Amino acid sequence: MSLFEKVLIGNMEVINRFVRSATAEFDANEDGTVSEAYFEMYRQLALGKIGAIIQGHLYISEEGKAHKGMAGIASEQHLPLLKKITQTVHETGTGSKIIAQLNHGGAHSVSKKLHLLEKILKKRTY
Ligand SMILES: Cc1cc2nc3c(=O)[nH]c(=O)nc-3n(C[C@H](O)[C@H](O)[C@H](O)COP(=O)(O)O)c2cc1C
Repeated sequence: MSLFEKVLIGNMEVINRFVRSATAEFDANEDGTVSEAYFEMYRQLALGKIGAIIQGHLYISEEGKAHKGMAGIASEQHLPLLKKITQTVHETGTGSKIIAQLNHGGAHSVSKKLHLLEKILKKRTY
């Protein structure tokens, strides 16, 4: 087996065994839409012939947003730019695949943290 051999992940054919592990970009707009910087970064990864590129985690609901600058896949408005990232990767022609990572921050969600912080601050007397 060589790192340069094709591999099947389910029914998805991957051109080699190089994987870009999911890495949060911390660069999304406040509303969770991706910024311009995403397109060039993912284009470069594809040009580098990474077989499978896993995008930084995407929040699936506002309440599940894990941190500031996180991109979302929580509403219709998020979809066009996410599609554009996929297109950008495919248009390089290298055969790289891009995979979305879905996330709900759970106890680590920003909104939950803010909620708890609010409670703590309300209890304090100055
Ligand atoms: C800045 C940064 C952002 C990361 N974002 C994610 C993420 O969105 N999703 C995820 O599953 N892992 C994330 N990770 C973990 C990496 O994907 C990876 O598993 C970790 O860095 C260990 O990789 P290594 O075993 O090759 O050193 C992140 C790591 C770093 C340093």
